[in-house]
Amino acid sequence: MPAEDHAETRTAPIEPPGIDAAVEHLKNGRLVAFPTETVYGLGGDATSDLSVTRIFAAKERPRFNPLIIHLPDVAAARNHVVFDERAKRLADLFWPGALTLVLPRRPDCRVSLLASAGLDSLAVRIPAHPLAQQLLRAVGRPIAAPSANRSGRVSPTTAAHVRDELGDRVSLILDGGPCRVGLESTVLDLTVEPARLLRPGGIAQAALEAALGPIERAAPIADGVARAGPGMMSSHYAPGLPVRLDALDPRPSEAFLAFGPPPAGSRVPDLQLSADGDPSEAAQHLFAALRALDRPEFTGIAIMPIPEDGLGAAINDRLRRAAAPR
Ligand code: TXA
Ligand code: MG
Repeated sequence: MPAEDHAETRTAPIEPPGIDAAVEHLKNGRLVAFPTETVYGLGGDATSDLSVTRIFAAKERPRFNPLIIHLPDVAAARNHVVFDERAKRLADLFWPGALTLVLPRRPDCRVSLLASAGLDSLAVRIPAHPLAQQLLRAVGRPIAAPSANRSGRVSPTTAAHVRDELGDRVSLILDGGPCRVGLESTVLDLTVEPARLLRPGGIAQAALEAALGPIERAAPIADGVARAGPGMMSSHYAPGLPVRLDALDPRPSEAFLAFGPPPAGSRVPDLQLSADGDPSEAAQHLFAALRALDRPEFTGIAIMPIPEDGLGAAINDRLRRAAAPR
């Protein structure tokens, strides 16, 4: 359906798997939201300045914060960025998957400079979700896709979340069900030696270190303007309500989000991230839980402590930003 046909409606149609319309929209400069195994992405043709401009506008995202470029396979990625030995090893081990590599842009790279905010590096990722794979293969162009939420807010892990976030700012939402990982990809900067972890995410730091040796963790910065780590703003991933971390004693007015068994004598949790205390399961449920508890009858969201192991580090990174001063 052409975008004009539903210009009057408030929200984009949500489609079951079916990609012809999505390809048509993307080739005509329009935006399509699609599932990946991490979170839903807001996709646009990365080679088109117009499409990329529309992505920034739809998200109300600051232009200095560069986008991740999605490709179907390593061969396609090699057309745009320069691989070194480290990149080859990580691509073999973790692609397709929840890892984004920041690599030097090739001189003949066709990706819009607006997408990478004028940097001479480019963030590339090969998503594993079958629908994302189908879409990328069918469209045959690099697709820029930030998470399909308005800037600063919680990333969407279902098609309905995308509709709530973006309404008619997107031409079509491909519905692939809830995302399996639930947290954004790990972003690793390979333009420096040793490699720098810019964003913890769906692949744990320990797994990367097992392949590469020690990796430096870039410190989050206060205002996000620094070139070294664009997008690492301290306040991000934030629901409307204030968030209180490491909470074992929820106040009566607070929503209570548990991880594992609640403390003896505490009240019944409003939601549970993982009854067994499994960080991967908690990651899968995290963003949906924050959305579900973000309701006016509560004064805040109190969240139990989550250990740093496995995906715990990435969960805590998101929660610290959700709790950061706005
Ligand atoms: O899982 C994901 O990565 C999702 C799905 C849709 O693929 N995408 C996503 O994109 O989270 P976004 O735009 O929300 O986050 C991209 C992150 C930002 O922190 C951005 O600053 C960083 O990647 N980034 C992108 N290009 C970069 C570059 N050239 N140098 C340093 N950081 C970069
Ligand atoms: Mg995002």
